[in-house]
Amino acid sequence: MKRIKMIICASVCGGAVLALAGAPPAPEGFELGGNAEKGAATYKQYCAMCHGDLGKGDGLAAAALNPKPKNLADKEMMSKISDWEIYLVIKEGGPAAGLSPMMTSWKAVLNDEQIRDVSAYVRSLAK
Ligand code: HEC
Repeated sequence: MKRIKMIICASVCGGAVLALAGAPPAPEGFELGGNAEKGAATYKQYCAMCHGDLGKGDGLAAAALNPKPKNLADKEMMSKISDWEIYLVIKEGGPAAGLSPMMTSWKAVLNDEQIRDVSAYVRSLAK
């Protein structure tokens, strides 16, 4: 019985801590790199339907989402998000940083270079 309680607590409490903590720390020496120009086409094809053409979270599919995608063109909001978090969330999906599972993992669709390129494009939306 004690053991079961411990297991339940480990998953519930651990999950809560993860959700609050946002993205896990970046691996040492992580650099995004990426080519925003190349990432633009990927963004239009796969991301704009939710995030909107300009990243404002007003894509056609966003109406059905709760929570709504944040405004990726908002400088203040984006200044709080690291390159690592952008990369990680695109690669592994929202839950990797305590965000909505409606933000799915793209690593089966996009290769590492494409993920870096589209991350660089996301960065460019708030400039
Ligand atoms: C089905 C709708 C949908 C699609 C398609 C989608 N996203 Fe998301 N995205 C979301 C939602 C919902 C969230 C979680 C709320 C938020 O933080 O915006 C999210 C979160 C994010 C974040 C995290 C913002 C933060 O706070 O860390 C980034 C970056 C992002 N998406 C980029 C992309 C990129 C790039 C693509 C295309 C490869 C994409 N998304 C495709 C719905 C979507």
